[in-house]
Amino acid sequence: MTDARVCDYILRCAKAEKETQKLTERLQALATGSLDCLENEDINDKDFLNLLNENKKLKYRINILKKSIETAGGDAGSSNIDDFGSHMCNIIGQLEKIFTKAVLSAYPQAVNPVIQIQLSKHADYQCNAAMALAKVFLRKTPREVGQEVLKNVAPNPLISNLELSGPGFINIVLNKDFIKQQVTNLILNGVTPPPATPIQVVVDFSSPNIAKEMHVGHLRSTIIGDSIARLLEFLGHKVLRLNHLGDWGTQFGMLIAHLQDTFPNFATEPPPIADLQKFYKESKKRFDEDEAFKKRAYEAVVKLQAYEPLHKKGWEEICEISRKEFMKVYERLQIRIIDRGESFYQERMVKLVKELNDAGLLEEDDGRKVMFGEGTDVPLTVVKSDGGYTYDTSDMACLKHRIEEEKADWIVYVTDAGQSQHFKSFLSCAKKAGFYNDVKTRVDHVTFGVVLGEDKKKFKTRSGDTVRLVDLLNEGLQRSEEKLKEKDRHTVLTPEEFEKARDAVAYGCIKYADLCHDRSRDYIFSFDRMLDFRGNTAAYLLYALTRIRSIIRTAGVKQEEIEAEAKKGTIALDHEKEWKLARTILKLPDVLVQITQDLYLHPLCEFLYEVSTVFTEFYDNCYCVEKDQSGNIVKINMNRILLCEATAQIMEKCFSILGITTVGKM
Ligand code: ARG
Repeated sequence: MTDARVCDYILRCAKAEKETQKLTERLQALATGSLDCLENEDINDKDFLNLLNENKKLKYRINILKKSIETAGGDAGSSNIDDFGSHMCNIIGQLEKIFTKAVLSAYPQAVNPVIQIQLSKHADYQCNAAMALAKVFLRKTPREVGQEVLKNVAPNPLISNLELSGPGFINIVLNKDFIKQQVTNLILNGVTPPPATPIQVVVDFSSPNIAKEMHVGHLRSTIIGDSIARLLEFLGHKVLRLNHLGDWGTQFGMLIAHLQDTFPNFATEPPPIADLQKFYKESKKRFDEDEAFKKRAYEAVVKLQAYEPLHKKGWEEICEISRKEFMKVYERLQIRIIDRGESFYQERMVKLVKELNDAGLLEEDDGRKVMFGEGTDVPLTVVKSDGGYTYDTSDMACLKHRIEEEKADWIVYVTDAGQSQHFKSFLSCAKKAGFYNDVKTRVDHVTFGVVLGEDKKKFKTRSGDTVRLVDLLNEGLQRSEEKLKEKDRHTVLTPEEFEKARDAVAYGCIKYADLCHDRSRDYIFSFDRMLDFRGNTAAYLLYALTRIRSIIRTAGVKQEEIEAEAKKGTIALDHEKEWKLARTILKLPDVLVQITQDLYLHPLCEFLYEVSTVFTEFYDNCYCVEKDQSGNIVKINMNRILLCEATAQIMEKCFSILGITTVGKM
């Protein structure tokens, strides 16, 4: 029979399955009277029976179609899992799919069954669905339910054997050939993302404020935001990385007025301000103490917002000095980001305020214009009593721009948890104003906790000032250098290699220490801990990767030879530890799917650490390169070299998503 016929059967079968699932849900809802959508439909018993009948017929047809597919030689299982083509397969996710289908065909009444696949002591994985189902279908024991589900698992390429065990667990043995194929693909095609439909994403991160120092909170936003952007880019999405700089607002009035007094020639000679924060403090002091200065500052804001050339020039000079400082941090941390500050939205704010006003959405409140969203008591201040706009106004205009002009399908904001109320308020106001619909556009406010010092108090310098990021990075470099020297690395590595290793360890450790914790919690910043070469640290993991790379180097096996060997497709996974390592590294696509759902990155770090420990287990038990007593290589186990290569590729991809530079030697 031709492929086209098989395809047609598969399509028709899938369609029928979809229909019967829908029908089943309707029947279930009718039986319990729970579905809202049915409230308006007047369905009497006759209709109910008709539906039931129709469903029976559909199921009958599905069976016939499945049989036809089988006899036609088509793989009935392939309609059962996603088509991942040459992409890596998210094995656990696919197993969940397979078992969800099995549960639904065994128990069509089960509405949205939650299937979890877990590690098993007796097999590769296990499915525990029977326990929960037996609680619903009381007349059966979990074992009977398990048996029923097991019987309904459709043929598929992932599973080689299923077995009922204990009170009703279904043990799953993976198909070795499938795993071998996946490892081979990985070596030949590199780490590929699980399939996803590309969408337009905006990631708003870092976003410090002009004329103020970038602090550790901005460092967290920078590190977390960059990693999220990298993750989404890897999955194939179009990512716009935006730096929502605080570059607009009334504080610029006093800065410009102070600039006019201290550097009258600023329009022709760029002002040599070395310490912009000091400059900010000076102008703030004058603003608070000197009434005449205050008045000038206010006038300066009005002129700036009218784009009066000299005032605009002063503002630009100040922004430029700030941006140069920020750039230094971004360059060192290798962060790509596009500046698009609050000022960008000035004209859009004017327009939006008018629209909100015309729609009658603004209320007068003590000279201010405020707006209440649905379900929030804290209103937005849309216009201040002096007529100026606020952080609220710019975020409203900015959201509208991102949805309507950038055509964003998904917007991610990365800021400290302290801003949660602000985000709730402006998002609910945007909904009320009608330009944001949370079904159409996904918006995540990715929050994080406070950075604490080793004394568990807010991270500060000894003198109580906020820690300057540049100083922090410098200290990291110095500490990393000391640590590597302590390990005598300077005697082994060339000066360039040493420098590369020092930078990778310093910045890698700072990033990893931030990313490996549950971001919503506060975390303690400790150089001693993050530079420890034992445990779950970047120092240890970067070193572990260089060790794997050095095994391949020692064996003297070239990349071409690895590929040629992989192409043979004969990789064996006979040793228990080889099998465990292969299964572990192939979990990456599942981890990526998981972290994309909630944008918590620490599971990726935990995975990376797991890979390195499972690799150590493998290496301790399986010789890769065998040497004689005088140290000459007598045997190279190519099979295992392939596993080393695959592991190294997986670790490298994890580091790359975390924004951490790897090194060949350290
Ligand atoms: N500039 C703000 C701050 O330093 C962060 C901006 C975050 N992005 C946004 N669209 N509100 O706290």
